[in-house]
Amino acid sequence: MCGIIACVGTNDAVDRLITGLENLEYRGYDSAGIAVKNGHGVSIYKQSGQISDLKNTIVQNLPDGEIGIGHTRWSTHGPPTDENAHPHTAESERVAVVHNGIIENYEELKSDLRARGHEFESDTDTEVIPHLIEGYMDEGADAREAFERTIDSLEGSYATVALVEGHEKLLATRQDSPLVLGQQNGEYYLASDVPAFLEFTNQVSYLEDGDVAEVSAEGATITDANGEEVSRDIETVEWDPEETGKGAYDHFMLKEIDSQPESLRKTIQGRVDPEAGEVTLDALEEGDLEGVEQVHLVACGTSYHAAMFGSNLMNRRGIPATAHRANEYTDTIPVDGDTLTIAVTQSGETADTLTAIRRAEKKGAQTLAVTNVIGSTVAREVETPVYIRAGPEIGVAATKTFSSQAVTLSLLAEHFADDLPQGTPREDREEFLAALERLPEDIQRLLDTTEAERLSRHHLDKEAFFFIGHELNYSVALEGALKFKEITYEHAEGFPSGGLKHGPLALVTPETTIFTLLGSGPSTQTRSNAEEARARGANIVTVAPESVNVDDVADERLTIPDTHPDLTSLLANIQLQLVSYYTARQLERPIDKPRNLAKSVTVR
Ligand code: F6R
Repeated sequence: MCGIIACVGTNDAVDRLITGLENLEYRGYDSAGIAVKNGHGVSIYKQSGQISDLKNTIVQNLPDGEIGIGHTRWSTHGPPTDENAHPHTAESERVAVVHNGIIENYEELKSDLRARGHEFESDTDTEVIPHLIEGYMDEGADAREAFERTIDSLEGSYATVALVEGHEKLLATRQDSPLVLGQQNGEYYLASDVPAFLEFTNQVSYLEDGDVAEVSAEGATITDANGEEVSRDIETVEWDPEETGKGAYDHFMLKEIDSQPESLRKTIQGRVDPEAGEVTLDALEEGDLEGVEQVHLVACGTSYHAAMFGSNLMNRRGIPATAHRANEYTDTIPVDGDTLTIAVTQSGETADTLTAIRRAEKKGAQTLAVTNVIGSTVAREVETPVYIRAGPEIGVAATKTFSSQAVTLSLLAEHFADDLPQGTPREDREEFLAALERLPEDIQRLLDTTEAERLSRHHLDKEAFFFIGHELNYSVALEGALKFKEITYEHAEGFPSGGLKHGPLALVTPETTIFTLLGSGPSTQTRSNAEEARARGANIVTVAPESVNVDDVADERLTIPDTHPDLTSLLANIQLQLVSYYTARQLERPIDKPRNLAKSVTVR
């Protein structure tokens, strides 16, 4: 989605804003802009295109200022044009505003404002905000009052920051859209996401819905939705600013794939004791889940595939668990006080997932979140947040967070097996936990091979890429296909292997490659499904543990280290991440910023 950065109290606001925008580019990249206040008014620079284009314009104009706001846009209302780029302003240019989210009643507000003589330049919903502020100021309100009256008239979801001429403070608020406040030695930042300012400060407060913050070099004052002055806790974010840079890599995606041994070590650290057969998950205590009879996991996209993996693993431990796509978790799904609903969301801000978890909470379900972002909306709203500890993920295509989500859900499955009446721990729990601890090493061994890179070189001429698997491997087949289509733009689909013959086989030709995920057992069903496709000319690429013989079915193979049968799919997934990456690279796709996509989808 769009990204916001604002700063005050630094003597180089323009540089800070540009750095912030570069750090946020993954949230949207079809246009960008900044506004700075420099003692003689508000100057706005904005245009369609990448941040680098904006940077060129700024270098030519050399603006300076001590207080400013910036925005990188992912279009919702209106195409990516210079006019639709943020910051937006009103006729007199006394007010500049950046905004994330959607103002649902903007058409109504626009026509009221038009009737009062306001003229609009963009197609955006955002533009009503500066017009409303200016309108109230024309009626005699001061900047703060005009801002508050404006918020009162907005419906929808928004995080917004305004700069008003003559008012030496940033004015900000949020409603159902993230906004964080960073501070250090008299420098203050507001942003939609911590990585925006992480290299300047890791001291962060999370604003709550309805908060209004007034921020100047002298400090930040926050009032809550009832107008009461409040203080929000300052937390130290432990992420390493290095992780938000590309380092020696060409792409964040490869950096993040390669970092999985390390990120998974952090996910597991201190939570597993294989010898005692014990799992400890920070916030969760024995007996916390009393009365739970069914577990629902709600998530979108890649996180949904991790949720599928998790629910399958829970089923294997006797726990009645089902994964739901968050946008399909409607009121028709039976949920009651005996339900535990788990939101699986890397960002903790995905609107569809938040809607689903709120729906469950309303119906009396217990709620838990598996998330990467401390202080995110989901982490604050559920009863129990469990963190995946993957570190910041910048590439739009999720990689390391999938692995950390899946592993965290494996730990939860073990915990539930002890804690829920229906659960039974695996007989070989010690073995499973020991394999989990070895997973980072296994991944490193896999990353040290070049099979996926070599294979990607000669598959470019195929017309379609299918991914098939059974049970745990089915979730990874879906994930493999999603990653492949996202960054290569080639036709890719994931199927349960047994489902191929019920329709999709009609699509199979000699121009089809089928990635076939095999487990460490006989995988009889998947093998015969692959055979059926091979008989129609398909090229079969198996992804299988090294000890498994695939000669009878494979045209080509990708090998993964042998591990516990419940973890094979996670290694297979890493081979598929590499195949997608290297294929997209050959096709010269913008890997970290695939067209039309954004990292965090905060609209429904
Ligand atoms: C795909 C991808 C998306 C996200 C989805 C949910 O590579 O990243 O499909 O997984 O938008 O995002 P979170 O996990 O932030 O809720």
